[in-house]
Amino acid sequence: MAKDKKVKEIEDLPGIGPTTADKLKAAGHDTLDKIAVLDPHNLAEMTGMSVDKAKEAVDAAKDATVLEFSTASQVYEGRKAIGRIETGSKELNDLLGGGIEAKAITEAYGKFASGKTQLGFQLTVNVQLPAGKGGMGGKALFIDTESTFRPERIEAMAQAAGLDAEQVLSNILVVHALNTEQQILAVEKADKTIKENNIKLIVVDSLMALFRSEFPGRGALGERQQKLNAHIHKLQSLADNHNLAVYVTNQVMDNPAILFGDPTTPVGGNIMAHAATTRLYLRKSKEDKRIVRLVDSPSMPEGEAVMKITPNGIKD
Ligand code: GTP
Ligand code: MG
Repeated sequence: MAKDKKVKEIEDLPGIGPTTADKLKAAGHDTLDKIAVLDPHNLAEMTGMSVDKAKEAVDAAKDATVLEFSTASQVYEGRKAIGRIETGSKELNDLLGGGIEAKAITEAYGKFASGKTQLGFQLTVNVQLPAGKGGMGGKALFIDTESTFRPERIEAMAQAAGLDAEQVLSNILVVHALNTEQQILAVEKADKTIKENNIKLIVVDSLMALFRSEFPGRGALGERQQKLNAHIHKLQSLADNHNLAVYVTNQVMDNPAILFGDPTTPVGGNIMAHAATTRLYLRKSKEDKRIVRLVDSPSMPEGEAVMKITPNGIKD
């Protein structure tokens, strides 16, 4: 095949039309790099194209993928430049290495009233603080799937921080998703909104609730996980492309396989476990105290912090 056309998108690959491209993207193979590492047999199976054609497409994807090497020190400099949003609790900030990180997905899971939503509210306020002062000088997008968004709570947090509450509220865009289609679309269509509004934080509260209720039972698990995978991939790519932080809340169940110790396990299976860069397990302690356990982090040791849910927001 003549390589006269420059391959920039999946659609530009030989033998791959818009419909096939959409199918691949929905399955999480949403960049040329990802196509470049596919086994052609696998690609053929997914798309119904011949193995030879699939080989051609994979080769073209490889050709189009520019792999750049950086020194570790360059990577280190880049990482220092990644923004962070403080949580309101110094102890928790320290546990996280300064706050929740941009270009990453932070997941908070725990039982009801453990503080997942409250922490999300606090982050929508704090992201608006200037960079270097606990925030990223940007706005927030809040995807509410449980109808638990409470502007009056955010107003109180903003006032306590000495901010103009009206201004703070007007910098939070809220989407109320009633089903997984709306939840998925809110993320699929977010690019433009993010750019126009300088969004630096996306909250999805809760990530799994609608998926769980719409796809009950083992029979629906495959379809659920496939949709979930594409949804989470899109969130991660928004985080990477726009240098923003993603905070998602997640529900828990008791894992019957855990006989000793705490059986509380986040839902969403392997897909969720792999997608979250940092996982936080929140649990109730005495009164307004909550224990936050850092379960999974690429750079920080496991550990625990205690935070408080106060009328003024999340504190030590
Ligand atoms: P689910 O969404 O039900 O799974 O729980 P969650 O983990 O999201 O809980 P959430 O973040 O909503 O935390 C609820 C806790 O926050 C409750 O124990 C409340 O007591 C506390 N809380 C909520 N609003 C206020 C408030 O205005 N002042 C104070 N002091 N506490 C509050
Ligand atoms: Mg909640």
